[in-house]
Amino acid sequence: MSPETVSVSRLIQKKNAAKDCFSLFFESQIQSSPGQFLMIWIPGVDEIPMSVSHCRNGTIGLTVKVLGEATEALCNLEEGDRVRFRGPFGQGFKLEAKRPVLVAGGVGSAPLLLLASTYSSMGVKGDAIIGAKSKDELTLIQEFENLGWNVYIATDDGSNGFKGTASDLLEKKLKVLTLDFLYTCGPEKMLFEVIRIAESVNLPGQAALERLMKCGIGICGSCAINQKLVCRDGPVFDFKELRKISEFGKAKRDAAGRLRPSV
Ligand SMILES: Cc1cc2nc3c(=O)[nH]c(=O)nc-3n(C[C@H](O)[C@H](O)[C@H](O)COP(=O)(O)OP(=O)(O)OC[C@H]3O[C@@H](n4cnc5c(N)ncnc54)[C@H](O)[C@@H]3O)c2cc1C
Ligand code: FES
Repeated sequence: MSPETVSVSRLIQKKNAAKDCFSLFFESQIQSSPGQFLMIWIPGVDEIPMSVSHCRNGTIGLTVKVLGEATEALCNLEEGDRVRFRGPFGQGFKLEAKRPVLVAGGVGSAPLLLLASTYSSMGVKGDAIIGAKSKDELTLIQEFENLGWNVYIATDDGSNGFKGTASDLLEKKLKVLTLDFLYTCGPEKMLFEVIRIAESVNLPGQAALERLMKCGIGICGSCAINQKLVCRDGPVFDFKELRKISEFGKAKRDAAGRLRPSV
């Protein structure tokens, strides 16, 4: 790790993004490609990986779902508080589509928002299928709409939009939309299903994966998935690459390095 990848940044704005989920904006000169991640150190608590959801004009934005101690502490920060960032790290999304479709589950919409805004700045817009368990967990919908993307909503309980999963809605939309590349991020069960559906119509794409990360730079091995390290070789992988990884959609390592079912 080179010293210039470490920086201390000040929180300048906090916005509610969904139930128990906040977008945090920091003053920062970090330049992140869509799909890359930062390691965020919250003093006295932990250091955790987070995708970048916004990056422009000297501001970095993260969209954080409260799950445990570190995400809660991050979301409890107040304007003016500082955190330490390491990064950006990892392989981001490739920007080759002319007609992209994004499929997000829950806070998986965070890295896909930076992807959508990057495409929009290149004059390319597409379709975003955004799913969640219920309407209060739908994340960043307004931001995708503000970028001029077509947004299609799916909720498991039918409280907003299509009743069912984002992958169910993708299957329907594939019959009517013209698309050339699919990007997806969300729960691994959803990624597995989205890739199966995309492959059934020969639609290429990439998925962003999550694994437990400690170092973020390819040293500790905590993010290993078969022979790959998600922090270094990912977190974004081509569908074709994922098909060769037998642990994908099946197993994840816990904090002790033991393989556990991932879905
Ligand atoms: C590359 C990468 C990018 C990420 N980007 C984002 C992002 O943009 N926004 C965001 O909110 N989170 C993101 N995460 C997940 C985030 O890092 C974890 O939610 C965080 O580390 C949890 O820390 P904690 O101390 O709050 O919870 P912990 O105490 O570590 O966990 C609390 C509970 O949540 C469960 N849990 C932990 N992580 C996950 C997970 N990923 N999915 C489901 N359950 C989990 C644990 O098993 C435990 O039961 C990303 C992870 C990776 C690897
Ligand atoms: S997090 Fe340490 S090797 Fe990936």
